[in-house]
Amino acid sequence: MTKRSTETRPLILDCDPGQDDAISLMMALSPNSNLDVRAITVTAGNTSLDKCQRNARLIAEICAQHGGAKDVPIFAGCTAPLHYPLATAEEVHGVEGLDGIEIYEPALPLQDEHAVDAIIRLCRELDEVVLVPTGPLTNIATALTRAPDITSKIAEIVLMGGARSEAGNITPSAEFNIYVDPHAAAIVFNADLPKTVFALDVTHKALIKDTHVDQIAVLNTPMSKILTGMLRSDYAEYDRAKFGTAGTPIHDACTTAYLLRPDVFTFRDVSVQVEADSPIARGHTSVDYWQMTGREMDTKWAIDVDHEGFFDLMIDCISRYPAT
Ligand code: BDR
Ligand code: CA
Repeated sequence: MTKRSTETRPLILDCDPGQDDAISLMMALSPNSNLDVRAITVTAGNTSLDKCQRNARLIAEICAQHGGAKDVPIFAGCTAPLHYPLATAEEVHGVEGLDGIEIYEPALPLQDEHAVDAIIRLCRELDEVVLVPTGPLTNIATALTRAPDITSKIAEIVLMGGARSEAGNITPSAEFNIYVDPHAAAIVFNADLPKTVFALDVTHKALIKDTHVDQIAVLNTPMSKILTGMLRSDYAEYDRAKFGTAGTPIHDACTTAYLLRPDVFTFRDVSVQVEADSPIARGHTSVDYWQMTGREMDTKWAIDVDHEGFFDLMIDCISRYPAT
C-alpha cells in the first residue's frame, strides 16, 4: 500500500456523543477540513445507544445545514459492552448526553446496516483506513474479532482512552472509555496495528478556558453559538469542579486535532495492556513507558500538547462554518 498523508486517508469516526465527541465531529466535518470522513459509527457509552445515535445524527445534521460535510452515513452499533453491563456518564454529559444544545429528533436518517458490519465492509472496500474511536471500544473490537482480515486494511487506530500519569476519571485507576468495556480495549490494544492514543495524560492539558469560550462567542455564527452553549453548560463545569482543572478538557477533540495537525502533540512510543477483570483495577491501562516488558512499542502515547495550538485549530474549524 502506498502511504497517504493523514488528511487523505479514509476515516471512520466511532463515537458516543457526548459534548466532546460532538465537538470532535464539528471539527472533522467543518467546511473544507480536508478530512475524508466515510462514516460515523456509534456505540453505547456516555448514554444509551439510542440517545448516542440520535445525538450523532443531530450534530451531523447541524454541521451539514451550516456548510459542513454532507451525506456522511451514520450507523448504530453495539448496545452494551462485551461482558459487563453498560455503565454511562449522564452525570457528566446530562440526561440526553448532550447538555447545552437544543435536543430534537433530527431528519438525518440512521443507516439500516449495523455499525460493526459497516466497519468491516468499509475496511474491505477501502485502503489505509483510519479508525477513530472516541467512546468504549466495543464496535471496533467486535469488528476486529469477527473479521481479522481487516487488520491489513487499517493504517492506524487513533483513539481517546486510558490514563497513565493522570490515573483515572471514573475510578481511581481507570479512564471512562476503557473502564466501560475493558475486554474490548484489551482486544484493540493487543491488535497488531499502529495505535495513537490520547489518554487523560494529555487531554487534561488540552483545556478550554473561559477566555477561549469568549473568543468563540464573538464569532457570533450559528455554529459558534452551538459550541458556546456546550462550553457554558454544566458539562463544562464537571471536570473543573471534580478534578480542579483550570478549564474544560475536550478529550475526544484531541483525535481530530491530531488528524488535522499532528505537530500539535508530542508522543512517546509505548506498549499498553489493559486490566479487564480486577474489581479494583478494571479498565486500568498498564503503560510500558520504560521498555520493561519486552513487548512491541506499537502505541504512540500523547504526552503533551501545544494547548494554544489546539485551541487555534478548534477556532479555525468553527470559523469555517459561515455566518448564515
Ligand atoms: C471520555 O469519556 C467520555 O465521557 C468522553 O466523551 C470521553 O470520550 C473521557 O474519559
Ligand atoms: Ca466519547
